[in-house]
Amino acid sequence: MNKNIVCIGAGYIGGPTMAVIAKMNPDRKVIVVDINKDRIAAWNSPDYALPIYEPGLVDVVREVRGKNLFFSTDIEGAVKECDIVFVGVNTPTKMFGRGAGRASDLQFWEATAREIKNYAEGDKIIVEKSTLPVRTAAAMESILNDHAKFRFTVLSNPEFLAEGTAIKDLLEPDRVLIGGPQDEVGLAAINEIVEVYATWVPRERILTTNVWSAELTKLAANAFLAQRVSSINAIAGLCEATGADVEEVARVMGADHRIGSKFLKAGPGFGGSCFKKDVLNLVYLCESFGLHTAAEYWSGVIKMNEHQQERIVSRLFKAMFNTLANKKIALFGFAFKADTGDTRETPSGTVARLLYDEHVRIVITDPKALPNARRDLADIVGDGSRLAFEDDPYKAAEDADAVVLMTDWRLYPSLDWKRIYDSMRKPALVFDTRNCLDRDALKSIGFRVLNVGK
Ligand code: UDX
Ligand code: UDX
Repeated sequence: MNKNIVCIGAGYIGGPTMAVIAKMNPDRKVIVVDINKDRIAAWNSPDYALPIYEPGLVDVVREVRGKNLFFSTDIEGAVKECDIVFVGVNTPTKMFGRGAGRASDLQFWEATAREIKNYAEGDKIIVEKSTLPVRTAAAMESILNDHAKFRFTVLSNPEFLAEGTAIKDLLEPDRVLIGGPQDEVGLAAINEIVEVYATWVPRERILTTNVWSAELTKLAANAFLAQRVSSINAIAGLCEATGADVEEVARVMGADHRIGSKFLKAGPGFGGSCFKKDVLNLVYLCESFGLHTAAEYWSGVIKMNEHQQERIVSRLFKAMFNTLANKKIALFGFAFKADTGDTRETPSGTVARLLYDEHVRIVITDPKALPNARRDLADIVGDGSRLAFEDDPYKAAEDADAVVLMTDWRLYPSLDWKRIYDSMRKPALVFDTRNCLDRDALKSIGFRVLNVGK
């Protein structure tokens, strides 16, 4: 009989991944549990007002919720009922003590491991989904198996889905990675998880490794992607200074198949829950193994990213006659990228704070991320006179001195920019940090236009 699955953590990773696993494994029961009652209530809401926005997700949840996919706060009951336990709890960057600002905070992971151990009534396969430093699985295995009545086999099955395309990435993954102990029990456990994915993923795309390789691959893959964004942003600064155009440079560079065309888009820098955290993790790991030059190398990726947001504000400052105080700037987009409401580590947040320090009057608009934006900036909202939120981009731009486009929402290029221009203070500036608007059309309307890398 196929084993039932529980996933602890009903977040951006756990929710969509389990929904797809349930859809593709109709003969398995899949239970997603979380300590956060509100989150579970949202996953269970009768009108499918799910706690996260992800294109296509609601259709999958509609199809399987109540059939073989269940959301619950009863962690104990679910662990008892299921032999395969995925763990997708959050592992934020540690803000205290040893490794503060770099290492991952593993307290939720460890607490979860202890809970699993307490509730288990039989052998379990534990599958790490959260990104974790290398060798975490080994630590967890010691906690779980120390004086245990049952056997716990810990595997690493890192998730490579990107937000905004999570469902597509899950349905058609480049690869699925499953790491596990290379002994008889470990290999058998790996095989059980291979079977879960093989119901829809071609076998040659399911790659298996030892646990440490799997853990490190996740960090390395994200660090490489982040490094590409920082590299192209470093070239963008040089383009602005020399008169080269970063889009032309990237197009031609990307035509070399050894380089490839993906992740060469200059912009406001990377955001999201993973890139910064994973690079910091890698830095910490390198340092703890005495690899200081490697640590410094990866730190540069983060430094470059922070510099990119500072540069956006410096260029605005210069273009707006060296004073921003009391000017009104509309930020178009607060999500860290299009098609998500997620605002973790969003460049827009950094830019908003830098502008706030310059006494700018800021209005933020975003089609999906305003609830998160309000929460993220709660400490500076004050009486709302210097920081406001507005659903309608046209209203956000009224009387503004500048519009700064921060998120590449498809909606923005299709707006009526003439109407926006007419409602703004003159001279009206657009800073398109994503290079997604028609620059010549904006100029012919009368806008002054800034871009990244040109
Ligand atoms: C998280 C991490 O952020 C990411 O780095 C990792 O790779 C995978 O897990 P995500 O799903 O985006 O990704 O996190 P989040 O949306 O914060 O969800 C985690 C969930 O775990 C939350 O809903 C939280 O309530 C829950 N949780 C946390 C538990 O159920 N138990 C705990 O002890 C801690
Ligand atoms: C990333 C990884 O892609 C995914 O495999 C991993 O599991 C989690 O982290 P995600 O953070 O959801 O996914 O988004 P991604 O599409 O990778 O974008 C990350 C950031 O880089 C965004 O802020 C995006 O705007 C930026 N980016 C990306 C660029 O600035 N330029 C690019 O060319 C690509």
